[in-house]
Amino acid sequence: MAEYVVQLTEVVKSFGELRAVDRVSLNVRPGEFLTLLGPSGCGKTTTLRMIGGFESPDAGEILIQGKNVTGVPPAERNTSMVFQDYALFPHMTVAENIAFGLRMRKIPPREIRARTEEALRLVNLSTYGSRKPHQLSGGQKQRVALARSLVLQPAVLLLDEPLGALDAQIRKQMQLELKNIQQQLGQTFIYVTHDQEESLTMSDQIAIMNNGRIEQLGSPEEVYETPATPFVASFLGDCNLLEGTLRETCGNSTIFEHPRLGPLKGSLNAKTATDCRVNSPAFYCVRPENISMRPVEGLDPVEAGLSSVKGVITQRVYRGGVTRYVVRSGNEEITAETLGKGTAAPGETVILTWKPKDAVILPMSQAKQQRDKAAATENSCPGRFSDEASGEG
Ligand SMILES: Nc1ncnc2c1ncn2[C@@H]1O[C@H](COP(=O)(O)OP(=O)(O)OP(=O)(O)O)[C@@H](O)[C@H]1O
Ligand SMILES: [Mg+2]
Repeated sequence: MAEYVVQLTEVVKSFGELRAVDRVSLNVRPGEFLTLLGPSGCGKTTTLRMIGGFESPDAGEILIQGKNVTGVPPAERNTSMVFQDYALFPHMTVAENIAFGLRMRKIPPREIRARTEEALRLVNLSTYGSRKPHQLSGGQKQRVALARSLVLQPAVLLLDEPLGALDAQIRKQMQLELKNIQQQLGQTFIYVTHDQEESLTMSDQIAIMNNGRIEQLGSPEEVYETPATPFVASFLGDCNLLEGTLRETCGNSTIFEHPRLGPLKGSLNAKTATDCRVNSPAFYCVRPENISMRPVEGLDPVEAGLSSVKGVITQRVYRGGVTRYVVRSGNEEITAETLGKGTAAPGETVILTWKPKDAVILPMSQAKQQRDKAAATENSCPGRFSDEASGEG
């Protein structure tokens, strides 16, 4: 058996001028739940459709179970696709819908019956076999669509926002059910969603896409805790992003300098550390839940090597279980999250602290630096960088 069920190498797809998928490479192991996550229009569906054979790449290579599938039609690829809008046959019963693919493959009737019953049991619809699609709820229709694909025992199941049409509560329940079924069968899934929480809940691996490219691929913990780009940091969960300059790096201890807040300690991400240059523009990323907030009185702000910033609370939002505070310091607004109701109020001066290991310093891309420079020369107002920082790199 091949080490990977699906392999994409430098796959490119353009529609006219637009590069919808831009040199995407991806390896999917047997039994893995891989999610393509990203904002609308980033190329998720196009990537999935190329794996399924509904679209052909302009360049690059797609292997399924080790075989190059260029020119192989969808039905001969050992893949099956589950669509957001279910695409059930309205005139057929649930059981007939599920059996359809097996009938097309000329499977013996007795085996079709057994496999259909098994699939119905798997999705908890054993007593619904003789209903028509219009007699089902949205969640039930999606389960039929899932059973119809699973019954074919494909090497990889492709799912394009399969829960997109369901309301929040049934969606949460279906996420767990889907994950259960996937694990129970050891079925390889490639799953498309733009819902961050959904991707964290369900995936073994998440590929975060932006503008046709994969910006980072890793386990949910990896991509959340050590984002490799500012886009990943802010798309997956919330993140305070500060712009400034990387000043010093010595082993694990790194100093970032913000033009107004001064020096802040942080750490480099192993994946991008080599792209970070001392005295070059950089981003400083720290998540609200990693920031502690305390009153100013009777406090030693630099205790235990923490990073700290003093500011004034401008907003307090209770979110059930946690409270979010927006704290203004210099020209920056920093969001902090505390457990429980939180007693601090707008107008209070506070100190925010966090551990340097919880703050990731990322290089600023050449593209972003150039955009900033162009904007700074276009309008005569000073940009967000000190003159010193924008003159470099
Ligand atoms: N058949 C097509 N012809 C022209 N442009 C297309 C076609 N299919 C997709 N595109 C464009 O390619 C880009 C990527 O589209 P794609 O459907 O892959 O995005 P997506 O990530 O699935 O977005 P969404 O979350 O909205 O479904 C978009 O800009 C889209 O308009
Ligand atoms: Mg899509």
